[in-house]
Amino acid sequence: MDNIMNSRAYKAAREKAQALLEKLTLTEKIGQLSQFGNSIYSSDEKKYEDHFREGKVGSFLTLRGAEKTNRIQRDLMNMQRTPIPAIFADDVIHGYRTTFPTPIAQSCSWDPELTARCSAAAAKEAYAGGLKWTFGPMVDIARDPRWGRIMEGFGEDTYLCSRFAAAAVRGFQGDGDAPGKDHLIACMKHYAAYGACVGGRDYNTADVSPETLHEVYLPPFKAGIDAGAATVMSAFNDVNGVPATANRYLLTDVLRDRFGFKGFVVSDAGAVGELINHGFAEDPKDAVCKAFGAGVDMLMAGDMYNDNLPALLEEGKVTMEEIDRSVLSILTVKYLLGLFDEPFVDPDGEKVFFCDEHLALSREAGAQCAVLLENDGILPLKGVENIALTGPLTHPCGKAHLLGGWCGIADPERTVTIEEGLKAAIPDANIDVIPGATFVHMEPEEIAAIAARAARSDVIIAAVGEENGMAGEAGSKSDLELCGSQEELVLALCATGRPVVCLVSAGRPLVLSKFKGKVAALLNIWQPGTEAGNSVADLLTGKVNPSGHLTTSFPYTTGQVPIYYNHPSTGRPADGHWRFESKYMDCPIGPLYPFGYGRSYTTFEYSDISLSSDKIAPDGELKVRLTVTNTGEYDGAAVVQLYVRDLVASRVRPVKELKGFKKLFLTRGASSRVELSLPASGLAFVDSKLEWVVEPGRFKLWVAEDSADERCGFDFTVTNS
Ligand code: NOJ
Repeated sequence: MDNIMNSRAYKAAREKAQALLEKLTLTEKIGQLSQFGNSIYSSDEKKYEDHFREGKVGSFLTLRGAEKTNRIQRDLMNMQRTPIPAIFADDVIHGYRTTFPTPIAQSCSWDPELTARCSAAAAKEAYAGGLKWTFGPMVDIARDPRWGRIMEGFGEDTYLCSRFAAAAVRGFQGDGDAPGKDHLIACMKHYAAYGACVGGRDYNTADVSPETLHEVYLPPFKAGIDAGAATVMSAFNDVNGVPATANRYLLTDVLRDRFGFKGFVVSDAGAVGELINHGFAEDPKDAVCKAFGAGVDMLMAGDMYNDNLPALLEEGKVTMEEIDRSVLSILTVKYLLGLFDEPFVDPDGEKVFFCDEHLALSREAGAQCAVLLENDGILPLKGVENIALTGPLTHPCGKAHLLGGWCGIADPERTVTIEEGLKAAIPDANIDVIPGATFVHMEPEEIAAIAARAARSDVIIAAVGEENGMAGEAGSKSDLELCGSQEELVLALCATGRPVVCLVSAGRPLVLSKFKGKVAALLNIWQPGTEAGNSVADLLTGKVNPSGHLTTSFPYTTGQVPIYYNHPSTGRPADGHWRFESKYMDCPIGPLYPFGYGRSYTTFEYSDISLSSDKIAPDGELKVRLTVTNTGEYDGAAVVQLYVRDLVASRVRPVKELKGFKKLFLTRGASSRVELSLPASGLAFVDSKLEWVVEPGRFKLWVAEDSADERCGFDFTVTNS
């Protein structure tokens, strides 16, 4: 596949890098492998001057702004014996100044192009702010919503996540031959299996079988590499006993030799030093030896490489070839970025922050990513005169929470609140904003007072959920229920008899089972970004018809997790025949809302479904064709989903797996013919030799509205040849 890493520009960059490499001293070479944070520049003048002079700095993280990065770049290049520009890096995850929905939310759009557009816009702003490299996308599969970093990725499904990984890489890096102006190089993280942390506890061990590792956790990285991702970040966790940051099998045998990755690997922050805590390395020198030897080219962050690699080289524990190989891959990316020709950015470029185009995209994306979970017909709101608006997310400090975590230097003050959005969208309505609701415990009297006042309106809108710091890094939770007294508040509002539209804004799936049958509507808005209030108002008023679908299962109760739709088949499926089945005594086996689920204000019908054949060769392709009709009262977008089950195989297969999808917009009453391709290669799984194989045999296929929908099932066979 064509991408920047196999372009002509890449080859030219590598030649230039090779020529430069030959002129560098050992100290300068190792300096290219070292990244530094803010502290080196601001806290210890002498240290930074020495480092700059000696060429001990290759990259900076979290230094931002055109003026600042230009100044530092100038100092660095003036002081170095051999001027080599630094790459400025940061976590540009879902925006830079303008904030877009969190990645988990973006995946619910089932529109990878939307992610490509949001990533491109984020890259444009970040580039204007002096950055050249983002630590994103995070492509970790997350099957456990207790893990707070679920918000940074694209959900529980490998196929879907792979599609979004490739789109995000393209969006950040651009489609051209080289990333250049307005783009950032991407860094896929966290390699690998970080999302498999046991118990959903961040930084915890990942105990995954080699087959699951290759089948579930690694393909999104492969997809990003095929899309041209120039860098990869090694994870904090150990994988089956070997820390990812010292894992030669993962970083070299698989990433480089098997997947063909040609860029460079950066460690996660401090992960090399943490090899000592893992009990995997004796001391810093041993840690460097193990991490560098495994394939970590660049250290985030500090002097461990500068301080230890020279001695390790002298002792023969690392070789000059290894050092040169790492330096070469970093210099190649610097040339590819055009950094040597243009190490500075134009300070006027910052005008792009919060530009109309990006705000419009934030508004559009915020609406496309929300998932309508319940609606008794109250939505879209029509002719409502008196609305009560309450819940902690309507509080002025809700502005930051509506952006979500990892929003860099976003400006929470720019966030459009739900109140502002609604007032602009329905200027004639009386909107009574009722204060007092919090994320923590509320006294029954406080709840009763809010409910009594809300009861005076025709409709109650309650915005509940999480603070932005509750998810993201180190944001693990043991309980997925709404925190504080929010559940009691919503139930008290429902008890008024007034229809309650409950908006849930969070970084993870929450347990919402008590609201079923009580709230009139339930809209999971995630953390929509700068234009949050406008996106929400567009949905509530019907200007935009909800079309988001879940990319993670929403559990009934926390005790069900990890819960994911594509679990392997058990010998005792829970089909209600007898006691001895794989189920819980005290709650349903399935989730409250399944993967793929999402409602609309309209309805869709699938008809004339056909398969191009009921047999395909192991190298063949099946075409699934159907007509989708918008049978309801509103224009809207359908998400046609294709699931497959391998009925008998040499390894136990998942009960079903997503293998294709298509989102299409249809005006009211309109129909469209849709075609989905299913290459037989998509039916492959990893065998005990860790090779991908397509086994002949019988398969079941569903064309579905979500992962629990089995109305349209078909049988087909993969033949022997
Ligand atoms: C640690 C996080 O795990 C990683 O995702 C992030 O990119 C780095 N810190 C840098 O901020």
